[in-house]
Amino acid sequence: MKAALRAEESPAPNRARILILDFGSQYTQLIARRVREAGVYSEVHPHDISAEALKALQAAGIILSGGPESVIGENAPRLSDAVIELGVPLLGICYGMQALAAKLGGRVESADHREFGYAEVTLTEGNRLLGGVGTSGDPLKVWMSHGDRVEQLPAGFQTIAVSANAPLAGMADTERHYYGLQFHPEVTHTQSGQQIIEQFVRGICGCRSDWTAENIIADHIDRVRAKVGSQRVLLGLSGGVDSSVVAALLHEAIGNQLICVFVDNGLLRLHEGDQVMDTFHKHLGVQVVRVNAEEEFLAALEGVADAEEKRKIIGKLFIRIFEREADKLSDVKWLAQGTIYPDVIESAGAATGKAHVIKSHHNVGGLPERMKLKLVEPLRDLFKDEVRKIGSALGLPQDLVGRHPFPGPGLGVRILGVVKKEYADLLRRADDIFIGELRKQGLYDQVSQAFAVFLPVKSVGVMGDERRYDHVIALRAVETVDFMTARWARLPFEFLDRVASRISNEIPGISRVTYDISNKPPATIEWE
Ligand code: XMP
Repeated sequence: MKAALRAEESPAPNRARILILDFGSQYTQLIARRVREAGVYSEVHPHDISAEALKALQAAGIILSGGPESVIGENAPRLSDAVIELGVPLLGICYGMQALAAKLGGRVESADHREFGYAEVTLTEGNRLLGGVGTSGDPLKVWMSHGDRVEQLPAGFQTIAVSANAPLAGMADTERHYYGLQFHPEVTHTQSGQQIIEQFVRGICGCRSDWTAENIIADHIDRVRAKVGSQRVLLGLSGGVDSSVVAALLHEAIGNQLICVFVDNGLLRLHEGDQVMDTFHKHLGVQVVRVNAEEEFLAALEGVADAEEKRKIIGKLFIRIFEREADKLSDVKWLAQGTIYPDVIESAGAATGKAHVIKSHHNVGGLPERMKLKLVEPLRDLFKDEVRKIGSALGLPQDLVGRHPFPGPGLGVRILGVVKKEYADLLRRADDIFIGELRKQGLYDQVSQAFAVFLPVKSVGVMGDERRYDHVIALRAVETVDFMTARWARLPFEFLDRVASRISNEIPGISRVTYDISNKPPATIEWE
């Protein structure tokens, strides 16, 4: 991960901020989210951020993340002098603790065995980081993941936690407010982990909890107004969570200077186009131009069976149509996009994350330069859960802000093989029954993503005395945190039975319904 937000574009210039310095841990973003859940603004930066940039950020405290390297390795990333010179409270987690210990003259060695998974730590010394955490006297259940460990504390430190495999599982220098934990308080498996984070950012760093939905909205409205002035802004509205929240926020900030273009490509869910128009145009009073482009998309996709090719065709055509509409609006100066903080962090890094690739589809590539549009990305510093929270606070309906992700190419990748209107219509109806039942049974929010897939095979069924060959629908529902790995959702049999019966009874043309029990990996979430 390289430079995330630049200091001068910080969304919260007047708020206390905690920096997370990234040493490469898979949990770095999670630390930043936990700090924000404590109501304190946080930013992720690379561990080797320059001394000037670091100073300019005026952090109230710094958390050093974990990381995959060994502190004793020759090229291991080290804690810079600049961090120590700031003189603010520090909390090192796992590798961060080892880097802190090494920097201040302690000794780190490789442990006999790696410690991975649950461990029990005993809290030894009263201190502000761990004071009042857990049940007094009982060991704390924590999440560990390390090979090396601190063997000798630097001068001025005391031990504050011990575990079987890490005699120094926690350390503190309460004079300088330096703390280290060998375990991961940011991971939900760690008992009272959130309390530990809160005690650091609020108790030790002295931050107030003012990063609330209302304040985030107020800050962002000010920033958008200052940025775009009285100029007009164009937004491609997809009906997904991110672009919807951008629309609601910009509408609040600049009213009718915002113009949205919503392209109905014929590959949306049942009634989705009307719902988008209802929510934004009718209820919120946002200016939305609806482009009905179903025929154009279906014509462009005719005979194409390959998923990647379908993706490209849909993406290109979307841009062409969007450009065509944008050309009609000659006085527009800005293009708004629903980029969110994980996209920023991931694309600033190795850019291997799928999120980056996914976003590039939504983003109207090439358009800003060609039309000389400037970019406004008001969600650039927000995590998904924050985007949802401010969406609700801005008055968007709950079923919109809590919506599962939906791929840019829409049903184009959920109809296997060639795309036909007839297939899209069958799939839309099946999907609507599945999603409607999930909502009705209170199961929708318990799964991360659910949808139906159209299989272009014909399978036999009986209707009365007659044998019929009709199409097959597959249902997919997964639980996941990051969409990189996923587990198939254990939906109740009675529920699946009801959905399957409804689909085959109510939709002529479907003879069979299957439920996908593949995990990711090895399968992916979409069937394509
Ligand atoms: P896979 O199928 O790769 O999906 O396990 C992971 C997540 O990405 C979504 N996805 C897409 N989103 N355009 C998108 O905007 C796409 O082409 C695309 N393909 C997959 C998928 O729905 C899941 O949330």
